[in-house]
Amino acid sequence: MPALININGVITTPEEAKISVLDHGLLFGDSVYETLRTYGGKPFLFSRHYARLEHSAAAIHLKLPWTKSKTFEEIRRTCLPGECRIRLLITRGVGDASADIGTSADPAVIIIVVPLIPAPEHIYTDGVEVVISSVRRSGWFAEIKTGSLIHQVMARHEANTRGAYEAILLTADGKLSDGITSNIYIVCDGKVLTPSHDAGIVEGITRGVVLTLARDMGLQVEEGIFDAGQINRADEMFLTSSTREVVPIARVNDAAVGSGKPGPVAVALLRAYRSAVGRLIRED
Ligand SMILES: Cc1ncc(COP(=O)(O)O)c(C=O)c1O
Repeated sequence: MPALININGVITTPEEAKISVLDHGLLFGDSVYETLRTYGGKPFLFSRHYARLEHSAAAIHLKLPWTKSKTFEEIRRTCLPGECRIRLLITRGVGDASADIGTSADPAVIIIVVPLIPAPEHIYTDGVEVVISSVRRSGWFAEIKTGSLIHQVMARHEANTRGAYEAILLTADGKLSDGITSNIYIVCDGKVLTPSHDAGIVEGITRGVVLTLARDMGLQVEEGIFDAGQINRADEMFLTSSTREVVPIARVNDAAVGSGKPGPVAVALLRAYRSAVGRLIRED
């Protein structure tokens, strides 16, 4: 698969791309990142992703080395023809082998661009199976996008082992949080329920768009703290992420959600999201 890597402004193939083994991103997962995609060849909702990146960087005392416009230009320069999936990663940079952030003064910017492989259409028409992970989301850093992703790696492994498309992570005290790399929603009596910021979620860019669309459609939306048992009362469920848009959830831990088929709210929100893309693509 063709891919391009931009490290500190130098674009190469993945084979040629090199970073130091003393980069604290590698040694300690000391980095922040964003995953975004293009529509019409343009990075989608870049300003919103950059704002979240700034929030993540500030939380770990990392100074972003490039301005927003330089970052956008470098992403555009690295993009391949056709739609792309983009990972923008800022590492702490090279330091000594201790965890002291004072030893690495020069953060590195890494942009990884690969062709976007569209999610298979059957996940939208049939819905997906998810499991409740045994991995818990915890710590103040759960809500920021850092490169310390061992929780997600273990949750992904568990989901694969159990044959599931995604996993739902609970907080340390058993409340619903979010997916491995997605936000989750329950539709109950016509109301859209989704874990709030206080449930340790990453506040998804797609989540922001979808909640606005839901309210515009006249749906009641409740952001809050929900027990995992709420799933048993769900009429339908769905998940969202930048690369997958709105995906209906048909089954959780082998039990059907509602009818076990994509529900009307998820289907309507997917349709609304896809038609909103054409308008939102004009946003910086
Ligand atoms: C933990 C987590 N929650 C939610 C999301 C969805 O965010 P977005 O809609 O910005 O892609 C992600 C994205 O990678 C994530 O890692």
